[in-house]
Amino acid sequence: MTTPLRPLAVLGAGTMGHGIAYAALAAGYPVRLYDVWAPQLAKASGAIAGIAAKGVELGKLAKDEAEAVVGRLTTTTVVAEAVRDAAMVIEAAPEKVDLKLALLSEVQAAAPADAVIASNTSALSITEMAAVLDRPARMGGMHFFNPVHKMKLVEIVRALDTSDDTVAAMQQVAAAMGKETVLIRESPGFITSRINAMIGNEAFYMLQEGVASARDIDKALKLGLNHPMGPFELGDLVGLDTRLSILQYLHRTLGEKFRPCPLLEQHVKAGRVGRKAGRGVYDY
Ligand SMILES: NC(=O)c1ccc[n+]([C@@H]2O[C@H](COP(=O)([O-])OP(=O)(O)OC[C@H]3O[C@@H](n4cnc5c(N)ncnc54)[C@H](O)[C@@H]3O)[C@@H](O)[C@H]2O)c1
Repeated sequence: MTTPLRPLAVLGAGTMGHGIAYAALAAGYPVRLYDVWAPQLAKASGAIAGIAAKGVELGKLAKDEAEAVVGRLTTTTVVAEAVRDAAMVIEAAPEKVDLKLALLSEVQAAAPADAVIASNTSALSITEMAAVLDRPARMGGMHFFNPVHKMKLVEIVRALDTSDDTVAAMQQVAAAMGKETVLIRESPGFITSRINAMIGNEAFYMLQEGVASARDIDKALKLGLNHPMGPFELGDLVGLDTRLSILQYLHRTLGEKFRPCPLLEQHVKAGRVGRKAGRGVYDY
């Protein structure tokens, strides 16, 4: 008989948290999902059951497996309850440093001494977060992609004090979830956001210089470089305001080559921030 897996706690039950919880449940972990807001936990439980049901419909999951996945989930609005018996805690709370630091202090007071603590932050410093812990060696980054149950990659981030054991534990959990990993020494934008910001910004410079139309730049990247979406289509989808704030951060931390293109800044000033506004580079 195999030993049952120790639970995994997921903190924050939003877009990323519910997806990470599903991936962990499907890998066989009992999952304790925490959120400050009870209705969000109900919504996340419904979304998790929905992903499992879709899996059954597509023939990827047997009906009893889907029931077992949902059965391994417990939800709570109390941090200590979520983390008290967890082998790993994955933090997926809002991207605000003060909020994350306060949450981590609560985690450390209640989690087992050997628990690995991973943050799903998109851009904040894991080293700064680990500094609030007694055991910074037990903390690292696990950067998942949206939607988590479909996206294959997890960027594993080694902060200044992250130990080899912690890196190995994060890699092992990601592999159990069926994900591929890449290992990164902590650096702004990791691999994906840094490259993606550069491509999006360069596309705006080309548009500003009149090198080609937006449609042709998108078409060239899709058909010539095999990108699934063009940089303007993607920017409009994510939101040009979000794209600009990532670039501003990379410009501050990594220097001149990330200076946001003036044409991108103009789009944001004009409120042309993408699909959500009905207008970005394209009209919707
Ligand atoms: N959305 C993405 O595409 C994406 C991709 C990779 C990483 N991330 C990162 O993942 C994290 C979560 O992002 P999201 O998109 O899931 O956000 P979200 O707003 O969808 O969800 C955040 C959840 O955290 C809850 N929350 C608020 N305060 C909290 C607290 N003190 N403790 C615990 N939970 C709290 C909210 O109720 C909400 O349910 C952020 O750090 C973000 O940068 C997001």
